[in-house]
Amino acid sequence: MHPPPVSASVRVRRAESSDLDDLVALEERTFDSDRLSRAQYRRHLDSDSAQVLVASANHRNFLGTAVLFFRKGSGVARLYSLATQPEARGKGVGSALLEASAHTARRRGCRALRLEVRADNALAISLYERLGFRRIGGYARYYQDGADAWRYEKALA
Ligand SMILES: CC(C)(COP(=O)(O)OP(=O)(O)OC[C@H]1O[C@@H](n2cnc3c(N)ncnc32)[C@H](O)[C@@H]1OP(=O)(O)O)[C@@H](O)C(=O)NCCC(=O)NCCS
Repeated sequence: MHPPPVSASVRVRRAESSDLDDLVALEERTFDSDRLSRAQYRRHLDSDSAQVLVASANHRNFLGTAVLFFRKGSGVARLYSLATQPEARGKGVGSALLEASAHTARRRGCRALRLEVRADNALAISLYERLGFRRIGGYARYYQDGADAWRYEKALA
């Protein structure tokens, strides 16, 4: 018998300081440049202008994370980072984190959620487009390694 799909049981919660080791380890496994440091994660966990979300499912407490930023007086929230543990990809964790990010931003009164994504990250781009993000522009050589970025926005009705 097949185990139930992870997507059916993904929960998204707010990150706590006990998640710091997992957050930093996933960041290092996932990104080669533009990484968040442990000190930055620690600051974001304590900040009103940031929200760090963590996905868990079944008996696994840490499957992925999303980092959101907010600015006072701005109706636009920014999804700064999204990552799923490599062995848990393709099971709905990223989708659950995106849905929860939109929900969190909407609850904080934002009218839109924006993000930048590497122009060569076809998998993430198709995920964003499937979940209602629209391409609104781009930046040449946006990342530390010289890669270009697309900007995406999702309206939060
Ligand atoms: C982008 C990312 C967060 C997606 O997370 P995820 O948990 O795999 O997301 P989901 O399972 O909800 O959706 C992944 C998509 O890839 C497909 N997929 C199928 N098999 C897959 C596999 N083995 N691995 C990854 N994706 C797979 C899924 O079906 C889904 O396609 P869809 O959008 O057409 O439905 C994850 O791949 C990741 O951490 N990548 C590295 C970091 C990154 O690129 N972050 C985004 C830019 S900051």
